[in-house]
Amino acid sequence: MKRIKTIASLIRPCQCVYDVGSDHAFLSILILKNKLAKHVVNIENKINPLNNGKKNLQRHNLIDKTTNIINNGLKNITKKVKIKPNYIVISGLGGRTITEILKTCHLMKKNIVFIFCPNLQTNILRKWLNENKFSIEKEQTIFSKKFYQIIVAKQKNIKANDNEEYLYFGQKNKQLDLVTWKKYLCFNKKMIMNSKKLLYNKQYQKMLKEIASWK
Ligand SMILES: C[S@@+](CC[C@H](N)C(=O)[O-])C[C@H]1O[C@@H](n2cnc3c(N)ncnc32)[C@H](O)[C@@H]1O
Repeated sequence: MKRIKTIASLIRPCQCVYDVGSDHAFLSILILKNKLAKHVVNIENKINPLNNGKKNLQRHNLIDKTTNIINNGLKNITKKVKIKPNYIVISGLGGRTITEILKTCHLMKKNIVFIFCPNLQTNILRKWLNENKFSIEKEQTIFSKKFYQIIVAKQKNIKANDNEEYLYFGQKNKQLDLVTWKKYLCFNKKMIMNSKKLLYNKQYQKMLKEIASWK
């Protein structure tokens, strides 16, 4: 729930939010209860999660403020949903799946704020965002059973940072306190071991040595 609450905290009051992969509709309930949007469009590619979400919305008397549809990500979404989003949230899916969803999104992206919270492969998502002229406006790393990086991005005509360290760990992570940063590195140790560039980076070598000495 910490993850969903953090995502909601990044939304400013607006007309409409799309939640791709909405599952239990927890995010839309939080958004609507806090009056962060007038309408939420919940998008699912499976019927059971969509129905669970609808039941939860009914329980909270919020179903009228939502549209709940079956769709593969954002593909052909403009044909099915007429209300335009101010925000699109894609959370709890892998970075690769998120990029596949973005590739088939033909909405005018420039006016939309995207909030991503991949459950893995954040580097794949960051790389795609860089190559497709998205700028990362804000990032937040949170711990909720495991580490998650929440990325707020907008499409702009700039190419951003694409060094490997950034693609894996993001821009703000060095501002984490040392204990949290080390914990975060422990979680990502396997990924560092698999990346030649990171493995040969002196800073990471030093940290890996230190991590090894803890066990
Ligand atoms: C792990 S849940 C994440 C739920 C919630 N967004 C969160 O962050 O906790 C992922 C949900 O995304 C849905 N999903 C996966 N691929 C999708 C796609 N291409 N289009 C729409 N929904 C998708 C799944 O059915 C599942 O309900």
